[in-house]
Amino acid sequence: MNLRLYLHSLRTNPVSLGIAILSLALLPASAQTGSEHKPAWMNSRLSPDERAALVVKEMTLDEKISLLHGTGMAKLGPVSPLAAKSNGGAGYVVGISRLGIPAIQMSDAAYGVRNSGENGRYSTALPDDLAGAASWDLDAAYEYGALIARELRAQGYNMSLGGGVNLAREPRNGRTFEYMGEDPVLAGKMVGQVMKGEQAQHVIGDIKHYALNDQESGRNAVNVNIDKRSMRESDLLAFEIGLRESNAAAVMCSYNRVNGDYACENKYLLTDVLKKDWNFKGFVVSDWQATHSAAKASAAGLDHEEPGEIFYADAMKKAVASGKVPRAELDEHVHRILRSMFASGVIDDPQEKSVVDVEGGFEVAQKIAEQSIVLLRNEHSQLPLEVSKVASIAVIGGHADVGMISGGGSAQVDPPGGNAIMPPGKGKPAWQAHIWFPTSPLKAIRALAPHANVQYDPGTDPASAAALAKTADVAVVFAYQWESEGMDLDNLSLPDRQDDLIAKVAAANPHTIVVLETGSPVTMPWADQVSGILEAWYAGSRGAEAVARVLFGEVNPSAKLPITFPKSEADLPHPILVKPPDASTTHGEPDAWKKIAAGLPPFQVTYDEGLKVGYKWYDAERKPVLFPFGYGLSYTSYNYSDLKVTPGKAVHLTFRVTNTGNRAGSEVAEVYAALPESAGEPPKRLVGWSKVKLNAGESKEVKMELDALYLSIFNVERNAWQLVPGDYTFLVGGSSQSLPLKESVNLK
Ligand code: BGC
Repeated sequence: MNLRLYLHSLRTNPVSLGIAILSLALLPASAQTGSEHKPAWMNSRLSPDERAALVVKEMTLDEKISLLHGTGMAKLGPVSPLAAKSNGGAGYVVGISRLGIPAIQMSDAAYGVRNSGENGRYSTALPDDLAGAASWDLDAAYEYGALIARELRAQGYNMSLGGGVNLAREPRNGRTFEYMGEDPVLAGKMVGQVMKGEQAQHVIGDIKHYALNDQESGRNAVNVNIDKRSMRESDLLAFEIGLRESNAAAVMCSYNRVNGDYACENKYLLTDVLKKDWNFKGFVVSDWQATHSAAKASAAGLDHEEPGEIFYADAMKKAVASGKVPRAELDEHVHRILRSMFASGVIDDPQEKSVVDVEGGFEVAQKIAEQSIVLLRNEHSQLPLEVSKVASIAVIGGHADVGMISGGGSAQVDPPGGNAIMPPGKGKPAWQAHIWFPTSPLKAIRALAPHANVQYDPGTDPASAAALAKTADVAVVFAYQWESEGMDLDNLSLPDRQDDLIAKVAAANPHTIVVLETGSPVTMPWADQVSGILEAWYAGSRGAEAVARVLFGEVNPSAKLPITFPKSEADLPHPILVKPPDASTTHGEPDAWKKIAAGLPPFQVTYDEGLKVGYKWYDAERKPVLFPFGYGLSYTSYNYSDLKVTPGKAVHLTFRVTNTGNRAGSEVAEVYAALPESAGEPPKRLVGWSKVKLNAGESKEVKMELDALYLSIFNVERNAWQLVPGDYTFLVGGSSQSLPLKESVNLK
């Protein structure tokens, strides 16, 4: 069977098949097992490390070097002729057919597989990653990853470039939608599940962008200054938890510098923390053109350069020949890559192209969207709408007649048929184009309210929208905020004068509901004037159906905010986002890659808010917010009671949640801890949660064992996590600012 798989991996390259079989016969006896003449490393009973070590022994220097880099990417500098065999994804590493090692075909896959349009394929768009985190649902996160991996394999890929888990220190970061919010425990656990789901399908999983790439402005130049304790307890903790939960096989180092060194040649990040402290066995892949050296990067722990071969091909070979890169170091990089391939199953179970299951994708995307839409406001129980009582609905704005917006950059999933707001065939997604997915809220609302008079106004003229709203029983305004890799938001306001539109519609109709399609929090000067607000994020292929089902109560919302919605930018730790000076950018000029590779002059960003990320900042600074972390309403109500905390080797906690309303629902019950004064921590931190499904009137006891790591602080002198002895207060409830249960215990 192993021989079959070995031959299978050569199928894509029939020319080399003959050579490979011949070379296989020529392999030394030590590399063969038994009469089948299959290489010893194809024995799946051996550990991934043993198998990798056997392969490394057989490799020539050139073969080793070939595994350490990609073959280039159009528009990003030199492309090797070998790239012709790429599957069309962001990265392609040639296989070593002589040894039965398949190529690595990498694709971006943040909320779905990228570039499917260009490659004549199809991908499902899931709700964005921040939306996924808003579900606080570990099973949903696993399904999220599994769906992406199935579609990757069906499209010929065996490695995913998703898994974004940078903490939302800076909510104006244009990639906030690709990440999992502001809390390291929530983000880490959720990304861990996504990775588990991916790797279970035999795809190499990747977590990115390590680390502190928390703003896009000047990302290739910026030097992030932050103290060790703060980074270990915040941004790095999300990665630590994600890796611990999933054993993701790859980590992508980021563009920026951290405390002086580029992340991809930062020994503290890559070796001291990732490989030593966390015992990471996989490989480090550079972000695209985030490599800046051969010897320095190699010594720091970078294993693989993408997308091309500027430093990790000829330059690396020379560095090895001259002894600047020791052979053992080279072998370790190769070993890590091979080990990851064996461990994730891409060698034993190679991907096979097939037709993507479109219907199956819709089902998963809709289910996750329904779990991720947050109900932020519901005055006088405006929602859910009762079909029998609503005779007329005004649907306004946001191109809601044809679609819902999606997140851009390398995360962009191609909408079938092109951009929904363009004429058919004209909407091919270009870099940083605003792309609407063909999922029409207008149609979905009409489908659920077939007897109502549902009219649409584009919202471009607020007066005309208000006039339509005035005639309707209910007005639903769809508002968007687009964002993407490669840009940051100027502010947290809705663009295109949508605040004005909403205010005018709300003035015309007291039953106005706003549906937000945003990648980051937004400010809402009109919040008190509308009766309902739903945050739908970038809702994916089936967003409209999910929104309509929430509006009409077929789904009872259960999501909670994974990120704080501040009242204004003035309340952020850094009211003004630091922009790069001119010399620290390339403005997309031709051959920009040469300047980037050589290193752009640094400019400084200092995260002096330290540990106080997200709600920890607003708590500590006593700043009131618009909607707090962990907040989200439901169509039913819940009561919390009977908290008991038992200290011991592990802290155990029990409490009761009761559905006191008349509708079934799921409540995300959140547990926070306030550490002893002497720990010097912000007022509280999330230490656990449970999503509890409850029928009307039902009550359940929730039992939790708390992870000691989540209660600890990072002691820099000892380079270790430490539980500070003293009084801990545990707080339990349905939002970071509504925690009715409280109990203090002493922990030693
Ligand atoms: C992004 C990565 C992405 C890579 C490949 C880079 O610009 O930062 O997230 O995986 O491109 O497309």
